[in-house]
Amino acid sequence: MSVSEIEEWYAEYADRMHRFEWVDRLFIGRYRQAQFGDVDGRLFDVACGIGTNFRYLPDPVELVGIDISPDMLVNAEKRLAKLGMDGTLREMNAQNLEFPDNSFDTVISALSTCTFPDPIAALREMERVCKPDGTIRLVEHGRSDVGAIARFQEWRADAHYAKSGCRWTQEPSEVVKAAGLSVRKTTTGLFGTITTFEMTPDRGVER
Ligand SMILES: C[S@@+](CC[C@H](N)C(=O)[O-])C[C@H]1O[C@@H](n2cnc3c(N)ncnc32)[C@H](O)[C@@H]1O
Repeated sequence: MSVSEIEEWYAEYADRMHRFEWVDRLFIGRYRQAQFGDVDGRLFDVACGIGTNFRYLPDPVELVGIDISPDMLVNAEKRLAKLGMDGTLREMNAQNLEFPDNSFDTVISALSTCTFPDPIAALREMERVCKPDGTIRLVEHGRSDVGAIARFQEWRADAHYAKSGCRWTQEPSEVVKAAGLSVRKTTTGLFGTITTFEMTPDRGVER
């Protein structure tokens, strides 16, 4: 799917995601909490969607969020207001960020590389805008390491992609490796479908 097709799809999906956020909280909340609960400095949430990460962030935090979908951002604004948090949200393409190099102390993103048409470009943009002594933290999903679940994902991969623009058999570790980011810590959970990464920018390293 192209960036504009993804934007259209999320326009329809935004309200449904908001209604079913409790499911995310149940299954993925603990990974978001562990990855994002102690971030500090100027924080950038890439593809923030409806703002699902916000409740897990420390308070106060200097937050900037972007997403390609204005409809997702409407829900994210409501989330900020509900949580009584400050933040700046902008419509922007993660593959071509409108921020200068070294703009943020911490860059976070959740469940996003599976939908970026070019996830490697997006990861390199995250690295570019992260300060050299900052960190990039991800919570990503992909192919399970449990055979039966992985086989189901394979079987439904094309249908799932056509329905949602999400490559749910993608291996997040392979995408991170291909982008050339330096992984400091990684964990997996939820039958291998969730992978977390803590990474450092590695500019200047030849790829
Ligand atoms: C599965 S949702 C995840 C949203 C949020 N990060 C979360 O954890 O709930 C994927 C998000 O990526 C956004 N997205 C997809 N492609 C994008 C792009 N090229 N630039 C910015 N956002 C994008 C979609 O609009 C959507 O909000």
